[in-house]
Amino acid sequence: MAGLSAEDVEHLGEAGFVVGSGFLGEGLARRARVAAQEHLALGLLKRAGVRRGGDHQLDAAVRGDSIQWLDDQVTGPLLEVWRRFEGLRLQLNELAFLGLRRTELQLAHYPATGAGYQRHRDAFPGDDNRRVTAIVYLNPDWQPAHGGQLALFVDPPRAVAPRLDAFVLFRSELIEHQVEPSHADRFAITAWYSAR
Ligand code: OGA
Ligand code: MN
Repeated sequence: MAGLSAEDVEHLGEAGFVVGSGFLGEGLARRARVAAQEHLALGLLKRAGVRRGGDHQLDAAVRGDSIQWLDDQVTGPLLEVWRRFEGLRLQLNELAFLGLRRTELQLAHYPATGAGYQRHRDAFPGDDNRRVTAIVYLNPDWQPAHGGQLALFVDPPRAVAPRLDAFVLFRSELIEHQVEPSHADRFAITAWYSAR
C-alpha cells in the first residue's frame, strides 16, 4: 500500500475502514522505530490523558500510552514519516474529495505492562473535527503473544496486529476501536485529518 488504490477509497467509503501494509516501506519503518525509541529514552513522550467533561485526566485503566505530537519541525526519519502522512492527506482529497485541511500527528508508546486503550471513537458524529484516522505500526518483532491488537468493532470484527508497517485507515466518527493490552513495547504513529 504505497499509495491508496481505488478499492481502498471505496472500502473507506462503504465499510468505513481500510487495513493494509507497506505504507512506509520496511526501511523507513525500521528507522522510524529506532527514532521513536530514542524519543522515548529522551523523555519526549508524556502520559496521555482522557477527556472527561471538560477536563483532562490521567486514567491508566482507560488509556495506558504515552505520546508526543509531531510536526514539520521533527528531524530524520520522523520528518519523512510526517511527509508521507501529508502525502496521504492530499491523496485522500484527490481520490475521496474529503477536503482535509489539517493533520495532527502523534507518536504513541504503549509499555509492555498490559497498557491498552478502551473502546472509543476518535470523533463524534456532527463534530466537524477529525474525519479520518490513519495509523502505522512500528513493531518489527511482534508476536501474537504480545497482544496489543487494534480491535475494530465492525461486522465482522477485525483485529489488526501492530506489526512493522501494518497500516489502518478509518473514518474517525464512525469506527469504534480499542487497543488490546500490550505485553511488549508497542509503538504507533497516528494521523488525524480534519476538514478545518
Ligand atoms: C488512539 C488510538 C490506536 C492504536 O490513539 O486514539 O485509538 O492502535 N490508537 O494505537
Ligand atoms: Mn482512537
